[in-house]
Amino acid sequence: MSRVKSEALRSKIMSAEDAAALIPAGSTVGMSGFTGSGYPKAAPQALAARIEAAHQAGDPFRLKVWTGASTGPELDGALAKADGIEFRLPYNSDPIARDKINKGQMEYLDMHLSQVAPMAWQGFLGPLDTALIEVSAVNADGSLVPSSSIGNNKTWLDRAERIILEVNRWQNPALEGMHDVYYGTALPPSRVPIPLTRPDQLIGQPVFRCDPAKIVAIVETDAPDRNLPFAAPDQNAQAIAGHLIEFLKHEVKLGRLPAALLPLQSGVGNVANAVLAGLQDSPFERMAAYTEVLQDGMLDLLDSGKLTVASATAFSLSPEAAADLNRRMDQFRGKIILRPQEISNHPEIIRRLGCIAMNGLIEADIYGNVNSTHVMGSRIQNGIGGSGDFARNAYISCFVTPSTAKDGAISAIVPMASHVDHITQDVQVIVTEQGLADLRGLSPKQRAKVIIANCAHPTYRDALSDYHQRALAGAYGLQTPHLLNEALSWHQRFIETGSMAPN
Ligand code: COA
Repeated sequence: MSRVKSEALRSKIMSAEDAAALIPAGSTVGMSGFTGSGYPKAAPQALAARIEAAHQAGDPFRLKVWTGASTGPELDGALAKADGIEFRLPYNSDPIARDKINKGQMEYLDMHLSQVAPMAWQGFLGPLDTALIEVSAVNADGSLVPSSSIGNNKTWLDRAERIILEVNRWQNPALEGMHDVYYGTALPPSRVPIPLTRPDQLIGQPVFRCDPAKIVAIVETDAPDRNLPFAAPDQNAQAIAGHLIEFLKHEVKLGRLPAALLPLQSGVGNVANAVLAGLQDSPFERMAAYTEVLQDGMLDLLDSGKLTVASATAFSLSPEAAADLNRRMDQFRGKIILRPQEISNHPEIIRRLGCIAMNGLIEADIYGNVNSTHVMGSRIQNGIGGSGDFARNAYISCFVTPSTAKDGAISAIVPMASHVDHITQDVQVIVTEQGLADLRGLSPKQRAKVIIANCAHPTYRDALSDYHQRALAGAYGLQTPHLLNEALSWHQRFIETGSMAPN
């Protein structure tokens, strides 16, 4: 049965190919999609086929693509493979698109996810021609029931000149009522406080409003959200979770955190998901999450009752968890709230609620600066995502990582970070399988001692200490001592030899 309940809008139903034909070459398309959920699945593939045909005919057809965050192979993968993306924002984890970006064939603007919608409204990202948005239903009054992510959809629908909808019957109708779309944001000087003081609070409405006159096409689909499976928590991940949970228990014991902790934020990736699995066996009860994405571990915590409510902007689930959730969405009613990403990641709310942020990293340096995005200073992995929104504003900002990458050839603790996303002031706790460094209240030199002793892998620990000692003796200044001709030599050694390991 069609989920397009508006008689007037039924006439707009067409094939994905016909809808894709309405998108002009060179235009900017704001698509739905956030960490593999709620992205359009049919029109982008039809668009990719059209672009490939155009290229074969000598027409350099490319698009500017904006989204919420990462999407799926049917969107970023298909369009990147067709060489159809000229410019992309604000986050990507698709391997084909990543390769194009790192080869210099695609421009990529990696942004704080809370800032995308406000900056679109400020106008300097340029005009938005088309919004291509997956929804789970179109109501009789023309309002739209969101899908499994909200991301920037509200803004794309409001800002775009024309709208193409994908109405996905795979999405469970029980999603209706699990969204909280807040329309109270404005630009300065008209901005007012956002009235959200608890993670379980509803401050908006369950549907998107939408000007029906802008809807030029509706495509009906029936395809699942597709995301990558998480790696099963290995020994390292379990050790990281163990150290972090011991730390949180200690904070509760000292009266610095309530027994139910403060609202949790857990970042993307395998390690962050493994920490959630660790919380399942922790003594904490009746926790809440105010976070960006809901991973498998978060659903397990809701299932067990350890977590009472989780507020986010999207699901970021393995294929099995996505299918499982979709089967029993009803059971999560009242426990899951999806909001626009400018609200899920809003600095004002994160600071007010006092979130405990737990994010992954690529590398940290001995002074606690964190690189979340770039490998060897120049190759993008994914993007900053919401890590900056949460790290700067959290009650406690924690970063979790194995102490080495690529089978030990790379140390996650380096003398100087080859790229910095989170300055040392935004990094309070670093955890590896080796141990935990509590950096709160420590000066740079004190931080270095704790990070090297507690977090570095034994293979690299002495070399880091040696670097620090020599920097203390010979640096230009002794506030944050560095030997500039050596600070990035570990990265250079990796590029030249395939390993950072000292000879
Ligand atoms: N050098 C080179 N590669 C590295 C690396 C380093 N120092 N550290 C990690 N990597 C690679 C891993 O080898 C792995 O590569 P593979 O996919 O080819 O195997 C990949 O990065 C993922 O690493 P993994 O150890 O599995 O960790 P993860 O899945 O937890 O991801 C980040 C870690 C940093 C990539 C991920 O957390 C991220 O993208 N963060 C930025 C965005 C963010 O924090 N969002 C949260 C907002 S709510």
